[in-house]
Amino acid sequence: MPAPLQISPSILAADFANLEAELRRIETADWAHVDVMDNHFVPNLTLGLPVVEALARVTRVPLDCHLMIEAPDRWAAGYAEAGAGSVTFHVEAAADPVATARAIRAAGARAAFAVKPGTPFAPYEELLDEVDMVLVMTVEPGFGGQSFMDDQLPKVQAVREAVGRRGGEIWVQVDGGVSADTIGRCVEAGADVLVAGSAVYGADDVPARIGELRALARRHACG
Ligand code: DX5
Ligand code: ZN
Repeated sequence: MPAPLQISPSILAADFANLEAELRRIETADWAHVDVMDNHFVPNLTLGLPVVEALARVTRVPLDCHLMIEAPDRWAAGYAEAGAGSVTFHVEAAADPVATARAIRAAGARAAFAVKPGTPFAPYEELLDEVDMVLVMTVEPGFGGQSFMDDQLPKVQAVREAVGRRGGEIWVQVDGGVSADTIGRCVEAGADVLVAGSAVYGADDVPARIGELRALARRHACG
């Protein structure tokens, strides 16, 4: 079975005017998912390196940086140096994914690669030797609050099977539309790191929602 389940709330759904306080609301989570968008790789613009540096200074929650940017080969290691605990780049944007993953690890962070819904996993299976996690997008990257794409679950399963064949501990993350309704299906397909933006920050009681998602995930892992 997958490693212990982890919850990574996405601060894309948080109040950007109060990010320090918003990070405090998710202190019971395992990670804080930080969506970096450059308005080129995706049609949206969020935040970059100076903000990640500032966030890393004010929180104990490790930062899970999801780079939706062009030229991650050039920028990814900088996010690790800025204090991120995990840095994920998109294979669709990387010219040299092996070198990029190695640079992230050399800078002291966990390395991961992400695949968009239209990108198959199989051509990237060999990359498992270089990373600590694979992110399977369950929406088109760019915006929070979209509907979960069930048709991505077979890909989650394929990644989990490939990871199992390889041995070693590589996490499988899902991102997009993860909620109390969909988290069980993600875990059953083999995901063990669950990103949730609107499902977490849309709740009145954020820590309670994190607990609820964790409990639901565990239930599906056991049964
Ligand atoms: C989408 C981002 C996601 C987003 C998820 O491009 O990568 O991390 O914040 O938001 P929800 O959980 O609302 O779909
Ligand atoms: Zn994300």
